[in-house]
Amino acid sequence: MDLEIIILAAGQGTRMKSPLPKVLHPVAGVPMLQHVVTTARALQPSAIHVVIGHGADAVRDALSSEQLDWVVQEEQLGTGHAVLQAMPRVDPGSTVLVLYGDVPLISASTLSALVEKVRGGPALLTARVADPVGYGRVLRDERGHVTGVVEHKDAGAEELLIDEINTGVLAAPAIDLNAYLPAVGNANSQGEYYLPDVLAMAVADGKPVPAQVATSELEILGVNDRLQLSQVEREYQLRQAQQLLRDGVSIADPARLDVRGSLVCGADVSIDVNVVIEGDVSLGDGVSIGPNCVISNSRIDPGATIHAMCHLEDAVVGASASVGPYARLRPGTVLAEQARIGNFVETKKANIGAGSKVNHLSYIGDCDMGAGVNVGAGTITCNYDGVNKHKTVLGDGVFVGSNSTLVAPIEVQAGGFVAAGSTLTKPVARDELAVSRAKQRNIGGWQRPAKSDGES
Ligand code: UD1
Ligand code: CA
Repeated sequence: MDLEIIILAAGQGTRMKSPLPKVLHPVAGVPMLQHVVTTARALQPSAIHVVIGHGADAVRDALSSEQLDWVVQEEQLGTGHAVLQAMPRVDPGSTVLVLYGDVPLISASTLSALVEKVRGGPALLTARVADPVGYGRVLRDERGHVTGVVEHKDAGAEELLIDEINTGVLAAPAIDLNAYLPAVGNANSQGEYYLPDVLAMAVADGKPVPAQVATSELEILGVNDRLQLSQVEREYQLRQAQQLLRDGVSIADPARLDVRGSLVCGADVSIDVNVVIEGDVSLGDGVSIGPNCVISNSRIDPGATIHAMCHLEDAVVGASASVGPYARLRPGTVLAEQARIGNFVETKKANIGAGSKVNHLSYIGDCDMGAGVNVGAGTITCNYDGVNKHKTVLGDGVFVGSNSTLVAPIEVQAGGFVAAGSTLTKPVARDELAVSRAKQRNIGGWQRPAKSDGES
């Protein structure tokens, strides 16, 4: 039987206290709803319907790259009402799986186990939790068969003691939902049409409701506020770190690594504490990342070392290169093999040739640097004239003395030597020495100012 999935995502998420629709709040840098869609896809359904309402346009835009059937629920009258809006779009011969856009950690294996349980009637995903407050409680008869769900707000004192909760996830033949949903009423404490009410109807119809108990309390954690969002984030991050450890990556503390995107690692990579990875990052064999680094959309080739406190964005670090501590590689930085960028150096749109060194306190922007160049401390490429950006070209083997300013556009050809403290505005030819600084004068017998007597 074909599987169709309905994801409920129309609610406002008032407790997030945010103009951003709840399902767009990120988990590991990706909208919560995207995680649910990705998991849903793993089940290979014939269609995914997403019920949206609050912030519908923003939600659609955020997931525009996905093939989804959007169903607008104008008024949020309850989970039963939400599913009913999607039913006309569902093939009546299919099995329907209902997911929540705000339960992002649910696993595909748990969901397939649930779908397997659908045999001519609905099946429910439940969980035993330490603190069931707020959840719908699962009611079972003396034989242990599910008889229905009672919402927390409608539950009596006895029912509130039940620690088996409705996760909200449910699977059922489409014909059953078509039959029962229109009959669900809203005579309850919240005046809402409750989806789980179809369970009691099925039972009354003589259909047993099998329950799949979720393996972990965490996978069914729903996000209603930012506290729960942070719990989901921590759990997600921990799982990723544990997977990396199993894949052979050394991680100093799996609780202090955040991967917000995709991280591909070679063999013997080691990552120290408090590292944040964003976007697409790849680390080659033997790469070592020091503590407190942020690395976004960058490629780091085998054997390179990123020392403590570095920030890399859209950068390429060549094999066996060394960066930091305290370096900032901005977009368009490409370091060739064995290049060295040291402390308090900022680079942007810079090609740094093989083995070249910029070890201290420099700004290198819009620069093509050859191999074996040595840039002294405090060197600045003056790339901006207030209107346009200009390029600095340094040939192979150039030596730039400390505290030099290279006013672009400018070229120092191979082997050129720039004396310390120079401000260059003219090109330097091959193997020339350029000196551009005030001549030193020494004045003998000079008297230091004497301390005044305080009168002015
Ligand atoms: C629901 C269940 C409860 C379960 C809990 C698990 C019902 C009546 N209750 O309660 O048994 O223990 O989830 O987390 O189903 N939504 C819509 N349209 C609506 C209403 C809700 O799309 O009209 C969406 C929300 O955006 C959300 C999901 O459905 O993603 C759940 O709605 P919510 O109001 O959070 O239900 P709970 O009260 O948490
Ligand atoms: Ca909820």
